[in-house]
Parts: sequence; structure tokens; C-alpha cells
Amino acid sequence: MADRIINSMKTEFTAKSVNESFARTAVASFASQTDPSIAVIADIKTVVSEAVTNAIVHGYADIEDKQSCIIYIQCKLLESGKLIIKIKDKGCGIGDVKTAMQPLFTTDTDGERSGMGFTIMQSFTDGIKVKSRLGKGTTVTLEKRLNTN
Ligand SMILES: Nc1ncnc2c1ncn2[C@@H]1O[C@H](COP(=O)(O)OP(=O)(O)O)[C@@H](O)[C@H]1O
Ligand SMILES: [Mg+2]
Repeated sequence: MADRIINSMKTEFTAKSVNESFARTAVASFASQTDPSIAVIADIKTVVSEAVTNAIVHGYADIEDKQSCIIYIQCKLLESGKLIIKIKDKGCGIGDVKTAMQPLFTTDTDGERSGMGFTIMQSFTDGIKVKSRLGKGTTVTLEKRLNTN
């Protein structure tokens, strides 16, 4: 049986770290309509933060004019109670997604990043897909069951 979309939202914003809290609150607020547990909302905030941070610090790292760097978020709520969150950037892209997703892998050189972002996204959701092309950008799709009963 097809899992029907019963609600959806889209938002986009400039890739600035001040907008990270906007992003996680917007998605958490959309998710809260099915009355999920506090733990589920906390997981959603965590994974949205990780994906948005990656778009800002990796995807758009080399672009000076941040005003031209946009992050796109799309959420769909399915009849089954599953939330689909798509977080997309049009930044530098990832050459080798499989390697990038390994625990502790980071291209960060100043020791600020732990290389655990994708691992956290994986373990706090019920599914993750990463589509990326060098020079084109990255789309992370996360699935989360909102009602765990
Ligand atoms: N949106 C993105 N655009 C470009 N590269 C990315 C993006 N997201 C992740 N990456 C690459 O994948 C690596 C692993 O990401 P992650 O697991 O979040 O660790 P960290 O951010 O701590 O480096 C990053 O170091 C970066 O090279
Ligand atoms: Mg990261």
C-alpha cells in the first residue's frame, strides 16, 4: 500500500550559522503536529543541525558571498507517521560519499570537526540517503518515524 503524503512544507535560507537554529526549530515545529515524544523531537533537531552545519561549513566553504549560498529544506509527512526531511545545498559536493560517511572521516584540517556528523544522522533516524555531485551540491534525505509506539 502506498504511503500517502498528508502534509508538506518547504523553506530556504542563507547558509549562515545563525540560521541553524531557525532550520532545526522549523522542522521540529512541523514534526510536532503528530505529537511525537520529546526524544523524537530532540533527535530531529540534532540531525537537522548536523546536515545544515555540513552544508554551511563544507558545501559552501569556498564561497565568499554567503548571500548567494542557499540551503533548501523540504519535509513531507506520510500517512504512516513517517517524516521525510530533505536538506539540499548547491555547494562543492562530495567526491566519495561512501568514504565521507565513515565514522570519524573528516576533511576538516583545523581539528574543529569530529567526523561524526553522518554517523549521528544515521543513528538518530530510521534511514539516510546522500546524493552528491562534485561542483553541483549535496542532498541528504532523512527518514524519521514520529510515533514510536
Ligand atoms: N554538504 C556537504 N558538502 C560537501 N561536503 C560535505 C557535506 N557534508 C559532508 N561533507 C563531507 O563529508 C565529511 C564528513 O561529514 P561529517 O560526518 O558531518 O563530519 P565533519 O562535518 O565533522 O567533517 C566532511 O568532512 C566533508 O568532507
Ligand atoms: Mg559534520
